[in-house]
Amino acid sequence: MKLARSAAVATAAVATVVAALLGSLSTTMASAIPGPNMAPDSNAAGPNAAPGSAVDGGQPAAQPLRAHARRAGLPVGTAVDMAALEADAAYRDTVAAEFNSVTAENVMKWQLVEPVRGQLDFAAADELVRFAEEHGQQVYGHTLLWHNQLPTWLTNGVADGSITPDELRQLLRQHIVDQVTHFRGKVVAWDVVNEVIDDDANLRDTLWLRQLGPGYIADAFRWAHEADPKVKLYLNDYNIEGLNAKSDAYHELATRLLRERVPVDGIGIQGHLGVQFGFSNTVIENLRRFDELGLETSITEADVRMPLPVDTAKLQAQARGFLTLLEGCLLTPGCKRFTVWGFTDRYSWVPGFFTGQGAATIMDERFQPKPAYEAIRNDLMLAGPPHHGR
Ligand code: G3I
Repeated sequence: MKLARSAAVATAAVATVVAALLGSLSTTMASAIPGPNMAPDSNAAGPNAAPGSAVDGGQPAAQPLRAHARRAGLPVGTAVDMAALEADAAYRDTVAAEFNSVTAENVMKWQLVEPVRGQLDFAAADELVRFAEEHGQQVYGHTLLWHNQLPTWLTNGVADGSITPDELRQLLRQHIVDQVTHFRGKVVAWDVVNEVIDDDANLRDTLWLRQLGPGYIADAFRWAHEADPKVKLYLNDYNIEGLNAKSDAYHELATRLLRERVPVDGIGIQGHLGVQFGFSNTVIENLRRFDELGLETSITEADVRMPLPVDTAKLQAQARGFLTLLEGCLLTPGCKRFTVWGFTDRYSWVPGFFTGQGAATIMDERFQPKPAYEAIRNDLMLAGPPHHGR
């Protein structure tokens, strides 16, 4: 295989490329980078600009992320909070201006699309698809099967025995077929199964595993493929950006599924990081080993949280965390997109889940870009064009 090099060689090569990128950045670009208080809508292309417009005419550094993403051939996306999209014009304008890919943060999850058994409600998800079409953005589907955000009629039915394992299997099949069929031709990829391996690298002990046995994973992929043979189908999880026991378990799972001719196309690396934990230095080797299996990869949910309060050192560390993921993706031929899990601290999920932590996104609560935003933009600018023939 072309990419089959030893880990040490790969690490050295990557370090050289990254050092070259960053070296040339600091010497040639520093004076062209706007200050940290640049408003997102002060970009030359503006919120309503066509994708990538004016890149060749204006100052490259003053362009929004999506312009650089387009030149680099790497879609850059965000998770979208549909309540914010509806209520907050600045949020809406920034999603349109900065990103060329969107992922539903919540509205494609089972709990939201079928709150009442048998009554499908795709209204909010359809609105996201419509918004994406209007703004020339890809839609990445999240997620068909998870152990969280399930409808209460389903979890209650399983708990009280009124939904038997056979019936549950039929319900899951119907859910996947309905949802994939509804969005056929509208989403580029699906997170088919989300977080099915736990932090000890075993299959996660969920309602799905307990009721249906381990075969539910292959079944989910086969049902999704039947409903839309063209859409890309992903496994998706957190803590698998570097080489570790959990990413090893995904490598084994993917290898087995491919051997059994299960239609799996890719691995989604969520990338929920924290400055207090440090960052893996084996992201590229990890992504490339999935390349060697013939799978796509995507960074699907990047954010980098920090213990509050915010300070300059933490913001610099945060920028490095985002770049660890972005550069891993840019330097891996099969890496198809880089998505942040929300772009403003105003609507981030982090403070509600991790007490005393926050500031995990690339813009603050007033939509002011942080060093991480600028670092991402600069890396994209240096990366393209063209990039890996994407
Ligand atoms: O639906 C209710 C709404 O009716 C109510 O008004 C509101 C009041 O706070 O709560 C709403 O539900 C919340 C939902 O987000 C929508 O805002 C839930 O309480 C809250 O738990 C839920 O959190 C989501 C979380 O997944 C659930 O585990 C986050 O927004 C979302 O960012 C997060 O996303 C996950 C990915 O799907 C998978 N990977 C990890 C990632 C972060 O946890």
